[in-house]
Amino acid sequence: MASDKKLYIKTYGCQMNVYDSERMAEAMGGQGYTQTDRPEEADMILLNTCHIREKAAEKVYSELGRMKVFKAEKPDLKIGVAGCVAQAEGEEIMRRQPMVDLVVGPQSYHRLPEMNAAVQAGKRAVDTDFPEEDKFEHLKARPKAARAPAAFLTVQEGCDKFCAFCVVPYTRGAEVSRPAERVLREARDLVERGVREITLLGQNVNAYHGGDETGDWGLARLIRELARVDGLERIRYTTSHPNDMEDDLIAAHGDCEKLMPYLHLPVQSGSDRILKRMNRSHTAESYVRLIERFRDARPDLLLSGDFIVGFPEETEEDFQATLDLVREVGYGQAYSFKYSARPGTPAAERPVVDEAEANDRLQRLQALLTEQQRAAQQAMVGREVGVLLEKPGRMAGQMVGKSDHLHAVHLTTGAAVGDLVRVRIVESMTNSLTGEVV
Ligand code: SAH
Ligand code: SF4
Ligand code: F3S
Repeated sequence: MASDKKLYIKTYGCQMNVYDSERMAEAMGGQGYTQTDRPEEADMILLNTCHIREKAAEKVYSELGRMKVFKAEKPDLKIGVAGCVAQAEGEEIMRRQPMVDLVVGPQSYHRLPEMNAAVQAGKRAVDTDFPEEDKFEHLKARPKAARAPAAFLTVQEGCDKFCAFCVVPYTRGAEVSRPAERVLREARDLVERGVREITLLGQNVNAYHGGDETGDWGLARLIRELARVDGLERIRYTTSHPNDMEDDLIAAHGDCEKLMPYLHLPVQSGSDRILKRMNRSHTAESYVRLIERFRDARPDLLLSGDFIVGFPEETEEDFQATLDLVREVGYGQAYSFKYSARPGTPAAERPVVDEAEANDRLQRLQALLTEQQRAAQQAMVGREVGVLLEKPGRMAGQMVGKSDHLHAVHLTTGAAVGDLVRVRIVESMTNSLTGEVV
């Protein structure tokens, strides 16, 4: 196969897709493809898609519409759809979009090189299996190229929780953890290539259980073992579910220095009635108690969450309970969404909340969350934090990095990308902080 082909990947959705896109690019690297950020010069375009809300899925079809232009100009351009829309609607995409050459689900992208061989021979290829084999093992070792200082590492995939609104259990399949030793091997390899911070990824990453002959490996044990890797300075994990929290993970936030003081713990709603209908199997109260335990272990923990407003049959009273919970917890960061009915999920069968009402609730919730985010940023002013430098800023001598609490921080320094510097925060801007090296 020609060795100078160009691959353009566009990534939608969650961090897991970001990680998968990197791995797909690496797998195609073995076939002589190098990545480009210009679709017009690509020999293959891959859309790594997200199915979580209607808008996310629609983007794929409008993007495919745009891609038609490139295909018209370059008939041997190949177009592939990967990720969660591929999994959910692969057959339909093939039917409706004759210019799509390849559809690959999130659990079978290690087969991409073989599929591409078929595509290059003029066929169309679809693979949306949930194969038995471990795709990560079937992928080549990650190449030794230098890396940005912060990296994602998927340790757990899939979901068995079946929240009534969510497509993930259908698009990503059942919960599976990667064996600890493979995760550790990949982490050491990343560190050798310049990575200083690793974010462990999973749909429910705290349900991680990568047992081996030495016994059970929960997420806390994995984090403690990673903390012993020289050169790895920071560890994060996301996303957690309130039901899978082990005591040792909470303890690790108090005694594991490399574990950063940030926790993304989605609650979705503050109303027990709605939580029950969502099949969340925790209550607002049990969630708040859990947060208290984290804060006892690590008082400066910055909390992040996800919320859905306008879930079927949500009343104003239910929504008020969500606002109450937000006021009680105090979030440094949060994501809030208007409920989107997803085909095949149980909630999609239920009566919807009036659109204007749902929009209004979303606005009110976001106003409160924005106020809390500003307050949390403001509270950092005067404090000293670690900042991992990730890229040069816009002006000479400027750098941008992430604080321990995951705030973007702008500063002037002679230090290099990948350095971890101590910084005093001097100002809070809209979405970032400014600091001075101490
Ligand atoms: N596994 C993670 C979240 C995965 S999806 C968890 O359980 O927390 C990310 C977020 O998208 C969810 O937390 C939820 O807030 C939102 N979401 C999922 N399905 C949705 C839907 N049908 N409509 C609106 N928001 C949704
Ligand atoms: Fe979706 Fe619920 Fe699973 Fe999260 S826990 S991925 S919201 S089903
Ligand atoms: Fe979207 Fe799939 Fe992630 S649906 S949020 S890309 S798991």
